[in-house]
Formats: sequence, structure tokens, C-alpha cells
Amino acid sequence: MTATERGTKTERGTETKRVTETEPSTETGRGTGIDPEVLRARAVDALTIARERTALLTSCVDDGELTAQHSPLMSPLVWDLAHIGNQEEQWLWRAVAGRDALRPEIDSLYDAFEHPRATRPSLPLLPPREARAYAADVRLRILDVLESAPLEGRPLLDDGFAFGMIAQHEQQHDETMLITHQLRRGPAALTAPPPPSLRSGPLPREVLVPGGPFTMGTSDEPWALDNERPAHARVVPAFFVDTTPVTNGAYLAFMADGGYTDRRWWRPDGWAQIREHGIGAPLFWRRDGGQWLRRRFGVTEPVPVDEPVLHVSWYEADAYARWAGRRLPTEAEWEKAARYDPVSGRSRRYPWGDADPGPEHANLGQRHLRPAVAGSYPEGASPLGVRQLIGDVWEWTASDFLPYPGFTAFPYKEYSEVFFGPEHKVLRGGSFAVDPVACRGTFRNWDLPVRRQIFSGFRTARTAELD
Ligand code: AVJ
Ligand code: FE
Repeated sequence: MTATERGTKTERGTETKRVTETEPSTETGRGTGIDPEVLRARAVDALTIARERTALLTSCVDDGELTAQHSPLMSPLVWDLAHIGNQEEQWLWRAVAGRDALRPEIDSLYDAFEHPRATRPSLPLLPPREARAYAADVRLRILDVLESAPLEGRPLLDDGFAFGMIAQHEQQHDETMLITHQLRRGPAALTAPPPPSLRSGPLPREVLVPGGPFTMGTSDEPWALDNERPAHARVVPAFFVDTTPVTNGAYLAFMADGGYTDRRWWRPDGWAQIREHGIGAPLFWRRDGGQWLRRRFGVTEPVPVDEPVLHVSWYEADAYARWAGRRLPTEAEWEKAARYDPVSGRSRRYPWGDADPGPEHANLGQRHLRPAVAGSYPEGASPLGVRQLIGDVWEWTASDFLPYPGFTAFPYKEYSEVFFGPEHKVLRGGSFAVDPVACRGTFRNWDLPVRRQIFSGFRTARTAELD
């Protein structure tokens, strides 16, 4: 859906019929054996929660602002709204239920591969009222389909996968729309209470993750997307990892030490980018006399020193880590820190175990429109004591976005496969803007290393010396 959202080229030409299952077999081998009625109820919930969030993000500004382009980096909000409905129509109404297209003439308008974001405002998009009515009409039909669909027998239906995929898709666009809100100028349209300060005692700066194999990825998480599969063994040598994400205070020390003007810390392409664009601080920061301010959803405030740093590129994260005498964790290190239980040797769904995320575990779901201070969420810690791996800020890793051994594109190559390669870096863990349905210890996000408008931060690591 998003080669052009990412600003990259793909070989998809002008083909408009996009929905083709990559694997039409009926011998699927995908089902987990989880009670289909449990998954059906979960799907209704996930779709409903997503739509409530979509409604909020598209009703807190007027129609003029829904159709306006707040940044060339983003679509108009009204594009996301109808794109959400159109993907649901294509995958659930047409592919799952086998029904005829409701609005085949609009498919190409909402095909992310056909129209780069910057050009979307000039398309003949459905106006806000029609876009809302279209998404609502599709949803009513889908709730009806979901009531009686057998949740097995086809790869798309097993474990209600397609319904879970579409709920995740809507939530991913809800995060994208929140980014558009952050880029938008003008008075605040969204507010939320600050995260609770759930902190406990002083924390060590880092912990040692023992070396050896662990299980990376998953084969039994019902709604895990294709790039998270399959589960496979990875040998990860011993390493130290920060117990919390890097804070604004720590990042300010890098800035004060001339971090942005010392070429030694930067990859050549990162150095070229900061020079060309005159970058000297995280995005949305501004210097005011002696202090740094940041703009956050229409409000300007002093940069809070104990919050995780936000809106940095991969190049900035990489340069900071080098300045600090450390490095970014690899994707495998990140996942081992988040999932490996040294007592059982098992990989779990989340740092705190297998239970779904609750408000005591992690800052997720746009409940708060900022990260919690570093060291928060003791109940969300991993067995080794690593905090805030899930929620708060997306964490850049050192790794390129690549398929796992045994990867199969499902249900379409344009979700993951066309993005594999060295041009995209992996982010892990999810931000405060991510809903739990689209967040788990195995979930993989990716973006270009120059990106800064996303809710990105990082933590650092170092290899443990052998002796
Ligand atoms: C997984 C977040 C990179 O937003 O481009 C949305 C998710 N794919 N529609 C993106 C996605 C198709 C994707 N990311
Ligand atoms: Fe999409």
C-alpha cells in the first residue's frame, strides 16, 4: 500500500486491481487452534476501537482542514479516511466475502502506489461527507460478514486474519493521521492527559543480555503480519542494552558537545542530509534564548529533559550512539531484550509476558499524546529489567528491513516484500500513537533513515567483551 507513501519506486505500474491473494490454497496450515468465537469477538472489538480513533482524528478539525495538505510529506486526512474504507472493501467485502466492488472507480485514487502523497490533494477525492459515508457503509456490511464468516479453511480467514489485518491497517493509518496532526500548524485540535508517572527506584543504566540462541519472529500469533513470520532460531552474542530509551536530557548533552557539527559521529549520507537541510536539533525543536522549546500538537513547551527523545532520524540516533561510545542495537538484539525469558529460555509475546498490553504495562493507543518519562512502567519491564520497550517511542535499530528465513508474502507483496532491502531501517516497539492491536514483541516497522516526523526515538547498546 505504501511504496509511494515511503517515497520509493516499485515495479507496480498502472495496474489497478490490487487485491490478489498470494496463496489461494485451502490447505493452509496457518490456524492456531484458538477458539474462533474468541477471535470473532476480538475482531469486532479491534475494528470498533480503530473506527472510534479514526472518527476522532477526522472530526476534531473542519472540512477545510480535512482536505488541506498540512505537509507535502503527508496525505490530506480525507485521503486516509477513504483509503481505510477502500482497503476494507477490497480485502473484506471483495476478497473474503466474494462480493462485487461497491465503488470500483475509486480504487485507483486510494492506491498508495499510484499516487505519491504530495500529489494526493489535487486528486478528485471524495469530499469529507462522502468519505465518511463510504467508510461507514463498508463497515456496516463487514460487521455483518464477520458475524457468520467461518474463521478457517482459507489463509485469509484462518484465525480471522483478514479482519485483524484490516483493524491493524486502520490503526496504522490512525498513527499516520496523528503525524499529520503533529505537522499541522495552528491551535491544538487534540488533547489528552499526561502519562501517569509510574516510576520506581533508581535504575541501572544498562543490563547484560546473555549470549546464545533465542526464538525470533512468530508462527503462532494469529494476527502477526507476514514480515514477522516464521519463528526461527537466532544466535545473539552477549550484549548490554540501555534500560530506558535515550532522554532529551542526554540528547541535549550530545548537542551541547557539538554533536551536529562534528563529522566524526556521522555516516556520510547522514552528514550530507544535516548539512543540506541545516539540521541541528530534533524535528519540532526551536531555540529560545537559553532554552530549547518543542511544538507538540499545537502547543509550544520547554523540552522535558527526562522524556525519551522523539522525532530523530536514524542518522541522528546513529550519530548520538557513536558519540556516546555505543551503537544502536540490532533488530535481533532488540527482540531478544524484549522477548527472551532467561528462566524458561522461551520467547514471550511482550517484555512482561504473554498478557495483552494494559495501561499498567505500556504507553500505547494515543491515550497520552507524548512519551512517559524514562524509567516509567515498572510493570512493563522485561525479566532482565529493560523498560519501555513497548510504547512511548518507536526505537530505531541498526538493521535493514529484510525477510526472515522462510518468509512468504501474505496476503500481498506490497505490504512488506517490496520494501525489503538496505534503504529501509527497522523500528521496533511502537510509540504512544500505536494501538495494542498493531504492537507486539515481534511487530516490525520500517522507514527511510532520513525520516523524522514519525514518533521515533532509540536506545543504545554495546557488545559485551569476552574474557
Ligand atoms: C508499516 C507503517 C511502514 O504506513 O507505510 C499502511 C503501514 N501499509 N498501509 C505505512 C501501511 C499500508 C506502513 N508501515
Ligand atoms: Fe494503507
